[in-house]
Amino acid sequence: MSSSAMPSGAYAVEAPPGARADRVRALAAAHAAEPGGLLPALHALHDALGHIDDADVPVLAGLFNLSRAEVHGVVTYYHHFRRQPPGRHVVQLCRAEACQACGGDALAEAAVLRLGCAEGQTRADGAVTLEAVYCLGLCAAAPAIALDGRLHARVTPERLAGLLAGLDGLEGAP
Ligand code: FES
Repeated sequence: MSSSAMPSGAYAVEAPPGARADRVRALAAAHAAEPGGLLPALHALHDALGHIDDADVPVLAGLFNLSRAEVHGVVTYYHHFRRQPPGRHVVQLCRAEACQACGGDALAEAAVLRLGCAEGQTRADGAVTLEAVYCLGLCAAAPAIALDGRLHARVTPERLAGLLAGLDGLEGAP
């Protein structure tokens, strides 16, 4: 998995709509002249802003001279792209084969219990989003997770508890 496929860390509070559009234009402009530049532009946006908002679609369509439907089609084709803002922290559990074979299910169960939200969801208090991903490139040291974009190998439920305990907003988690 490329580094662009992971969030870089905790995300800032949402910007007002106009400011976000300016930011989207600035981030995407670097790729506007590239053939197939929409995809790297989407990765740049996703990494910097945490998700691709519906309101970003017309901005990108204008910049890349595409229809809104074409941009929407690309955004929705790749499950990697979040369409809602994530929580302040993002926990990504590898659910691919090697991690599954090394206790991935038990780890996922522990994460769901500790965080109080299901995979693919954000806690009601916005503290954390729990996501499934498919291979973090640490198959030889499975099971693996990424926490705010930082990789952790050979994660046991106990280690996971320690990692999560260090996140702000999760002090009250079981
Ligand atoms: S299968 Fe989990 S890191 Fe590759």
